[in-house]
Amino acid sequence: MSQAAMTTARLPIATRDLLTGRGDHRVLDLESRHGNGDLLKVLDILGIAGPFKVVSPWELEDETGRHLVHAGGYAAMPFGEAYPPLIDFVRDYLAENKQLGLPQQSLSEWRAALATNLVALLAGVAPSHTDSHVYFGNSGAEAVEAALKMARAARPKATTFVNFARAYHGKTHGALALTPNEEYQGPFRPLAPAVRTLPFGDAEAVATALRELGDRACAIIIEPIQGEGGVNVPPDGYLREVGEIARRHDVLVIADEVQTGLGRTGHWFASVAAGLEPDIIALAKPLGGGIMPVSATIARKAVYKALLPGLASKRHSTTFGGGSLAMAVGLKSLEILVTEDLPTRSAEHGRYGLARLQGLAAQYPNLVESVRGAGMLFAISLKPVVGFKVPGVSEEDVQTLAAALLLRELHLGGVHGCYSTNASRTARLTPPLNQPEELLVEMFDRVAAVMGKNPTPLSMLKKLPLPRMLKLARMALG
Ligand SMILES: Cc1ncc(COP(=O)(O)O)c(C=O)c1O
Repeated sequence: MSQAAMTTARLPIATRDLLTGRGDHRVLDLESRHGNGDLLKVLDILGIAGPFKVVSPWELEDETGRHLVHAGGYAAMPFGEAYPPLIDFVRDYLAENKQLGLPQQSLSEWRAALATNLVALLAGVAPSHTDSHVYFGNSGAEAVEAALKMARAARPKATTFVNFARAYHGKTHGALALTPNEEYQGPFRPLAPAVRTLPFGDAEAVATALRELGDRACAIIIEPIQGEGGVNVPPDGYLREVGEIARRHDVLVIADEVQTGLGRTGHWFASVAAGLEPDIIALAKPLGGGIMPVSATIARKAVYKALLPGLASKRHSTTFGGGSLAMAVGLKSLEILVTEDLPTRSAEHGRYGLARLQGLAAQYPNLVESVRGAGMLFAISLKPVVGFKVPGVSEEDVQTLAAALLLRELHLGGVHGCYSTNASRTARLTPPLNQPEELLVEMFDRVAAVMGKNPTPLSMLKKLPLPRMLKLARMALG
């Protein structure tokens, strides 16, 4: 054996040190050097990068000791951070489970159970899904990719997908083609597949497009409520009508419920609740209980079998999808959502929250352009920070400044929110569905106090300390 091969490899950072809090605390430096440092630098310049300490599932503390109500997590934290019933279950699972970890080529009780429970949940409100099948993956985008391939396999001669302005379906190459945003798509053209993008909320536009596309139309992919697009709720009756139009034209419907599904918007499936029974449903975020990437694409039997038929049943797969720990976390998360009846709670708390936001929008018209909400998914859109073009800075960056400044002010006021990744002047609050009522009230009290101190978006900019403003400007100018 050569000398080089015998050398024991050494890792610069040990897990033990991180667990005991004795880790390397130059976190920003290390993340900048080896990770997506620019994003973190922006958050750091805004003073909202953390790292955060978990105080309870619903509360955080920043590095200065500031108490924060946790409303971040991009709708992927149904129970907040490290919810004890879930964590205790995982501990038991790891101690007691004797099945394979990644049972791709074997039976798995955990995978079978999660597929069965998901289909039962869906069929309970959408009986046409009684014999549906489930494909498991690891992210929302992956659930969408599987849905696209299922639709193409079921309608092999139809190559065009219909999507909607401000949609967000993920950033892998197929999902990206359906996420209309020049910043995300521009550098990666040509994109596949072919797409016809329509305004969201206009059923007549769907009918016209399907007439024009004829046999080329493969499927409509739609978020029943657009999450990353800024919590856009379509008009009453729209989703039912979209379903009927699709059926008339024999076009499939994919409901992307990665964000809206499993309780976030006050329903198990927002599409079904609005009268649309999709052929395929993509689920992810809350299924992982906030601790594990888990996604599921549920499809009618015929559609699923078109992608994975007979001897070609290996035609779509992923190594980690359906892994036992992921399935166990998914099962337990679903069980908690059911036993705590979190969709109902989300709807009730959501009504309270939206009413509070609407009151604030009326009170602060020079700051707030609009507010929206659906269950525990809340959006605040601000007026522009500046009403003119800034030389050398992209329009998108100028617009995004409004959301960034609002997130900073919310943070300083004790609320940890999140961006809206396809709506640049919008910040969102996506609190856990089981947020205690007193924290819900406290959160909106804090939002009200923040707005009271910031009459216009420009006043937020003026409060940004000069060194931070200069650093941000330097980044914007490249
Ligand atoms: C509706 C919707 N679809 C797909 C995705 C992509 O999910 P992921 O980020 O897990 O790939 C998201 C993420 O926000 C989403 O909101």
